[in-house]
Order: sequence, then structure tokens, then C-alpha cells
Amino acid sequence: MSPAKPTADQLADRYQRIATQLEELFDGYQDTPDDEIARMATACAVLHHKMPHFFWTGFYRLEGKQLVVGPYQGPLACAVLPGPEGVCWACMNERRSIIVPDVHEFAGHVACDARSKSEIVLPVREPAGNVVAVLDVDSDQPDAFSEVDRKGLEAIAALIFG
Ligand code: SME
Repeated sequence: MSPAKPTADQLADRYQRIATQLEELFDGYQDTPDDEIARMATACAVLHHKMPHFFWTGFYRLEGKQLVVGPYQGPLACAVLPGPEGVCWACMNERRSIIVPDVHEFAGHVACDARSKSEIVLPVREPAGNVVAVLDVDSDQPDAFSEVDRKGLEAIAALIFG
């Protein structure tokens, strides 16, 4: 049985500790300061193993006109999201975080794994402010994501490009 989901306060503290840990880790990436793939890989590994309500945790990167899968943890995912459907493309196009309490209620949701029941997707901006990737987290529990997750994950997405 998976561990119980933390309370809102515990969750906020946990995001804060993860953000601090990632900042410290990224300070050590001095030989690869511009390698956002390394930062994405580390961020999703840390998040995925510390958050019991995360079933799939990863990034999709804008490559030309497609979203291509980046570093992730969890079951096998769709390699390419051609758009325009899906939560990840809605996040890209609207340039804002999207929480989906029930993926079956989201028109055009792309189901990479039938076990995913709820989802949160956040924009990842490069220093000039353009959205160049998204951070996508799926849960196998319905309605798993709150404003605490949004705030915590937005802070972590902001660390990817330093
Ligand atoms: N559900 C996403 C696709 C990616 S998977 O969740 C890993 C979407 O609708 O864009």
C-alpha cells in the first residue's frame, strides 16, 4: 500500500525542502551550467521519489512544432505529443499551470497510461520568459493535486533554467 498523502502543511514543507535540495544540487552542476536536461532529470527523480501521490513525473520539451518527451520517472509515456489536443498543449498555449482533477472530464486529454486519473501541468520558462517545456505530473488517484502542488511545482519549474 502506498503511504498516505501528506497534509497541506506537510506538503508545502516538503516542496520547500525539495526546492532547497535542488538548488544545492544545481549549484554543483558547474561543469554543465547550461544543461537543462540534467536539471530536469534530477528534478523529476527527486520529486517522484518523495511524493507518494505522483504516478508519472516528467517533462515535455518544445521541439519545432511538437512536444517531445524529456526526462521522466514512472511508466512508459508517449514520446511525442503532436498537439493540439491534451493538457500539456493547453498549458503551452495558455502559458499557465493547469490542474485536471479528473482526466476523463478534460476534452482531448492524451492518455499515455490508463491508470492516470488526475494531472497537473506547469509551464517551464527559459530566461527570456518563453515557455519551452512543461512539467507534467500524473496521479493514479482522482483529484490528487491542489494549489499547494501548483505553488510548489511552479517554484521547482523555475529552477530548471536557473
Ligand atoms: N496527459 C498528457 C500527456 C502526457 S502523459 O500524461 C505522460 C496530456 O494530455 O497532454
